[in-house]
Amino acid sequence: MPTPFHLGWFLQGSSVQAWGEPWTGDIGRDWRVPDLFCDMARSLERARFDYILIEDSSYVGESYGGSREIYLKHGLSVPRQDPSVMATLMAAATSRIGIVPTLSTFAYPPYLLARLIASLDQVSQGRIGWNMVTGSSDVAARNYGMDGLPEHDLRYDMAEDYMAAVNGLWDSWEPGAIVNDRAGGMLIDHTKVHAVDHVGPWYSTHGPLNSGPCPQGRPVIAQAGGSARGKQFASLHADTIVAGVKGTPGMRAYREDVRARAVAQGRDPDKVKVLFLVSPVLGDSAEEAALRQRQRMARAEAQVPQLLAFFGKITNIDFATYDLDTPVSSLELHTNGHQQSLDDFKRVAGKKSLREAMLSYRGNSGSVELVGTPDTVAGRMEEVMQEVGGDGFLISVNDVSRRSIAEVADGLVPALQARGLVRREYEHAQFRDNLLAF
Ligand SMILES: Cc1cc2nc3c(=O)[nH]c(=O)nc-3n(C[C@H](O)[C@H](O)[C@H](O)COP(=O)(O)O)c2cc1C
Repeated sequence: MPTPFHLGWFLQGSSVQAWGEPWTGDIGRDWRVPDLFCDMARSLERARFDYILIEDSSYVGESYGGSREIYLKHGLSVPRQDPSVMATLMAAATSRIGIVPTLSTFAYPPYLLARLIASLDQVSQGRIGWNMVTGSSDVAARNYGMDGLPEHDLRYDMAEDYMAAVNGLWDSWEPGAIVNDRAGGMLIDHTKVHAVDHVGPWYSTHGPLNSGPCPQGRPVIAQAGGSARGKQFASLHADTIVAGVKGTPGMRAYREDVRARAVAQGRDPDKVKVLFLVSPVLGDSAEEAALRQRQRMARAEAQVPQLLAFFGKITNIDFATYDLDTPVSSLELHTNGHQQSLDDFKRVAGKKSLREAMLSYRGNSGSVELVGTPDTVAGRMEEVMQEVGGDGFLISVNDVSRRSIAEVADGLVPALQARGLVRREYEHAQFRDNLLAF
């Protein structure tokens, strides 16, 4: 039997999803109450996913033509609710799947974040993760009273200090601190609850955490460092790393790199699960899947400005200033935002024009292309994992709807299960234990 691999779902932010796409009901009206996401969480739990990662950003884009118009008009990452609210409701709708909200270190002071995540871990009975990001937008930074974000590598230096603060807070309750001895008249043993008194170069906190401890000790940490500095950070702190690296040789190299970095920093590399972003297109037959892929590309062709606006939002580049037929190689593109994404884009672009490059980038938006029936896609996923070495996939679809969720949860996953590639039952009650089960 093959070694099973892990499955995560990448939910591109809370609130309005895929507005204007087919099969999305009336999401423009229904988005305020997240029934779609609670249904999603139940479906993915039925399919025994390890986790749902809720992506986030906390600003309205304004980098396309120096205007908010295109973002607001098409609902590009707006409106968007705070992911911890969504995470709470998704946790309440489920009992086994892990829920991973994204919270950025520049936006949440360490104490606020440690307490929020500990509270979520408690109410979910040990099923919370934190997607640890350092932010990528100067516009977002201005929402929090800063002129802009610190420079890219400095953000990770600051994040080391941040981790020391939050880890100190999560560790401020020793195991067994809650005695709950009614006869003896003691709820908490004060000798097992400690101040943190972390004073770092950027963050300080007193502690202990008044919320009490996380059932998991510390929450599961997810990270997506793509740069050398980001990978160094992720391999030290993360339980799971998510990556959009293109092609199996690159995926294998990425995984080997973060595993080697983990070992060099004294960690067991098997405790760092690397999940690769994929966006399967499924059909009842190969022809139907290919048709749906063509339809997806046709929709993308009609939306090149929106795609560039979306990409410009995460890279802080105003693509409206360039003619769509300009060769990408003639442009001086730099970012203090998502460096890995920009590097991938340039690689895909080669000598292509901006329009063609965006379509190619979008067209093969995951690590590998997966187009076919559930069974053929399951077979391809098996091959990919054999070539890469592990540890699983982070599935994302552009057209989030109950239909596209069911295609994965009730079509693709049973095909994977039939091949023994993914679990049929959760092994444990808590999130990290399931992540480390194989
Ligand atoms: C699958 C995936 C999910 C990500 N989710 C977020 C997110 O929700 N919010 C965010 O600000 N950045 C997100 N990022 C960006 C990463 O945090 C990181 O900045 C990016 O991968 C570039 O790596 P670097 O920081 O080492 O340059 C995500 C990246 C990937 C690959």
